[in-house]
Amino acid sequence: MPPECRVAILPGDGIGPEVLREATGVLLAVGRRFGIRFVLTEALIGGAAIEATGLFLPPDTLTLCRTSDAVLLGAVGGPQWDDLPPQLRPERGLLDLRQHLKVFANLRPARALPLADVSPLRPERIAGTDLLIVRELTGGIYFGEPRYRSRREAVDTLRYGREEIARVARVAFTLARTRRRRVTSVDKANVLASSQLWREVVEEEARRFPDVALEHMLVDTCAMRLVREPAAFDVILTENLFGDILSDLAGGVVGSIGVLPSASLGAEPPTVYEPVHGAAPDIVGRGIANPLGAILSVAMMLRHSFGLAREAMTVEEAVARALQRGLRTPDLGGRAGTAEVGGAVATAIIDAEGSVPPARAGAALDG
Ligand code: NAD
Ligand code: IPM
Ligand code: MN
Repeated sequence: MPPECRVAILPGDGIGPEVLREATGVLLAVGRRFGIRFVLTEALIGGAAIEATGLFLPPDTLTLCRTSDAVLLGAVGGPQWDDLPPQLRPERGLLDLRQHLKVFANLRPARALPLADVSPLRPERIAGTDLLIVRELTGGIYFGEPRYRSRREAVDTLRYGREEIARVARVAFTLARTRRRRVTSVDKANVLASSQLWREVVEEEARRFPDVALEHMLVDTCAMRLVREPAAFDVILTENLFGDILSDLAGGVVGSIGVLPSASLGAEPPTVYEPVHGAAPDIVGRGIANPLGAILSVAMMLRHSFGLAREAMTVEEAVARALQRGLRTPDLGGRAGTAEVGGAVATAIIDAEGSVPPARAGAALDG
């Protein structure tokens, strides 16, 4: 762990600032409890940056991120900017950030919550769900050229090169070794040439991981099976757009997209941490956004960027305890507010015992 952990804080738009306020509170609580110096520096991105500077990703923001150990991001976008063309929208700020920082592997864990009746699935179907989506993040149809819109037609390009597939596949296989050693590679190889290449390259990489079981699955089947038997999945490896869609589906399966964290990694720091959800304009400003996706992203940061596994578990345990005590935002069927949930988690961390918390509680939610 470095003597000082530098974290860039990019609140962005909508509920982004609301959930990051709680997540940074939790980070500072960890610092206080364990004597770690986190240096947090805030910067603009997305619509907030457009309003202040005219740019969705100001150069100062990118420089700050490049000189930080980790980036914590809230969300970007909102109805105010919905009429802009794609290349001018706030979302482009996030896409450019990912591309500039070369964070090609997006890890999106989803686990059954330690609560009955939050998942829309019957308890026996959701029980034991513990999956990790590894989403390719800097290629595919999000970034392919040509891309244009004329009056008569619009074109997006889905392109993948071998190495783009190979490097994210290696991340998935490597992580599978720390879990149940099963990778489901998800594609649309019955239709798309890019998916046929995807399958071929994933097979090649799999040979270097003979201890990991690989299966291929078509994305439409995967969507169906995620609802019918989510507990059957371990690591899901997939391309950019499929991973975007399947991770929201995973949020629906566990009960709320508001609890899902993510980490986006490249070959070197910084790693970008962000909740999977967006700006949620329908609930912005009401103080009811679920901060747990952002808080659990902090747990992922502690573990992956700073090697602070015990501290990450303390955060996860505090989250599980808050939920079990009934502190739930409305998306989880409760009445608690954003600050109440965030405050309870931070307080529980400061009050935590010095010993490592029980494994069951730490396993309730992942970072
Ligand atoms: P969304 O994820 O913002 O919201 C979808 C639904 O989930 C809404 O009903 C919302 O209220 C609910 N929800 C989301 N997060 C929640 C939370 N933390 N607590 C409680 N409820 C929560 O998706 P959307 O409405 O389709 O998109 C809104 C805007 O956000 C769009 O501009 C979109 O481009 C942007 N977006 C940004 C990101 C990001 O920054 N990473 C991700 C997704 C969407
Ligand atoms: C996500 C979001 C982004 C994406 C948007 C806002 C560009 O939906 O992080 O899941 O599609 O990657
Ligand atoms: Mn998404």
